Amino acid sequence: DRGIHSSGLRGATGLTTYDPGFASTSSCRSDITYLNGEAGILRYRGYPIEQLAKSSNFLEVSYLLIFGELPTQSELDYFEQQITIHTLLHEDMRQFFDAFPKSAHPMAILSAATAGLSTFYQDHYDPKDERDVEVSIYRLMAKMPTIAAWSYKKSIGQAFIYPWNKLSYPANFLHMMFGVKAEPYEVDPEIAKALDLLYILHADHEQNASTTAVRLVGSTQVNMFAAIASGINALWGPLHGGANQAVLEMLAEIRDADGDTASFVARAKDKNDPFRLMGFGHRVYKNYDPRATIIKETADKVLRKLAPNDPLFEIAQELEEAALSDDYFIEKKLYPNVDFYSGLIYKALGLPTEMFTVMFAIGRLPGWIAQWKEMMSDPDTRIGRPRQIYTGAATREYVEIENR
Ligand code: ACO
Repeated sequence: DRGIHSSGLRGATGLTTYDPGFASTSSCRSDITYLNGEAGILRYRGYPIEQLAKSSNFLEVSYLLIFGELPTQSELDYFEQQITIHTLLHEDMRQFFDAFPKSAHPMAILSAATAGLSTFYQDHYDPKDERDVEVSIYRLMAKMPTIAAWSYKKSIGQAFIYPWNKLSYPANFLHMMFGVKAEPYEVDPEIAKALDLLYILHADHEQNASTTAVRLVGSTQVNMFAAIASGINALWGPLHGGANQAVLEMLAEIRDADGDTASFVARAKDKNDPFRLMGFGHRVYKNYDPRATIIKETADKVLRKLAPNDPLFEIAQELEEAALSDDYFIEKKLYPNVDFYSGLIYKALGLPTEMFTVMFAIGRLPGWIAQWKEMMSDPDTRIGRPRQIYTGAATREYVEIENR
């Protein structure tokens, strides 16, 4: 009597699974990223993340994710050159930035401006046209850092800095973020390398919430800009990409409470307290997040160089030790995730907390693109349309407003 019926259509019978959070549902088949959460393994297109982090760079990893193979030198040169020539935003896009309030969260600007790109390229955004797809890939990869840096410049009231294309991808971003008009910005190559590494570690993570958003929205055959904008919105939340900002806020809170890490660990275990230790736990990793292991080393280096006396780093180390030796965290297999240390590095680089999730978005972009591209070319793809278990009222008679 609640309208449950069997229509007899493919995939639309009366029998459905109920799987909140899709924890046991594979929504697709994918060749892109292998993740074994029990063993703490992560590979992009078969290559271990440790090897890519050590020997590759972000644009090469982006090529690998998007096109499936490591590029030859000439393929990589072409890819980099195409990205380089698209870094400028259309001048009319400057008005977008003027229109937002100064206090706007940069993730809101990033998602709006990314969706807004579709208004400038509507003659070339057919998701089924190979050339349109290719040029949209270059445009997204090239323009996202410019949008991100300008959203920051807007928030501090400084002039926008145009891309300087002789710089590498991460160095160009740092130039647009921290450069001022009068003088060329000198990028520290070690810092640019640390940023590049963070991008690599974030580049893909199979069917997480934001990637699933990109695939689901993309399955309606909307243009790539719109699909990617939905990924940005999904990433924004504190349980996903927003966790790196939340980690820093939590560490500052602990510092302001005289560094009392024990009481915060106790709060995280208290089921009557909604507080969670930010940067701990993962839906898939029930072991150390391999990205956290790699990032911790970089955090050590960057922090020693840029912020040797940052009390937040010490608190982070204490917190990690306390949690790792606590029965609750051991039993629930809650280990530090990639966001636990990334925020500290971003802070040392001089990035404001609101920009942390934006950094994650720039890193995740090639993964979203690769997943969107794979979804579009998969003959099994159908519009995403989950079912539900209806729990509402059975049939009721309409009641006129004066009789309610
Ligand atoms: N602190 C304290 N307890 C926790 C934490 C935490 N950080 N994470 C999970 N738990 C507990 C839960 O309370 C739950 O306990 P219960 O079994 O007694 O109910 C159990 O561990 C399982 O947690 P779930 O929320 O069911 O796990 P889920 O897979 O749904 O959530 C998530 C994973 C969202 C990452 C969660 O661990 C969390 O909230 N962590 C903090 C936020 C965070 O760091 N997010 C970043 C994720 S990584 C990324 O996006 C790159």
